[in-house]
Amino acid sequence: MAVDGVMHPMQQAFMENHGLQCGYCTPGMVMAATSLLKENPHPSEEEVRIGLEGNLCRCTGYHNIVKSVLACAAGE
Ligand code: FES
Repeated sequence: MAVDGVMHPMQQAFMENHGLQCGYCTPGMVMAATSLLKENPHPSEEEVRIGLEGNLCRCTGYHNIVKSVLACAAGE
C-alpha cells in the first residue's frame, strides 16, 4: 500500500494514533478498515467496532485501532 515510500492514509493514521503494538494483526486491520471506509466513509465508533470484529488483536484493547480509523475517516 505504500507507494514511493508514502504510506496510505490508513497506515499513517495507525502510526499517528498508536493503533498497533506488535503489528501481527495490523495488515488485516488496515485492509478491513480501508474497506469499511470505502463502504461507509463516516462511520460511528460502533460501526467501526462492528466492521473490524472479525480481526483479533491480542495487544491493543482496540481503543487506538478504533481511534485510528475514526481519525482517517475525519481526514486527520
Ligand atoms: S498489535 Fe499485536 S496483535 Fe494487534
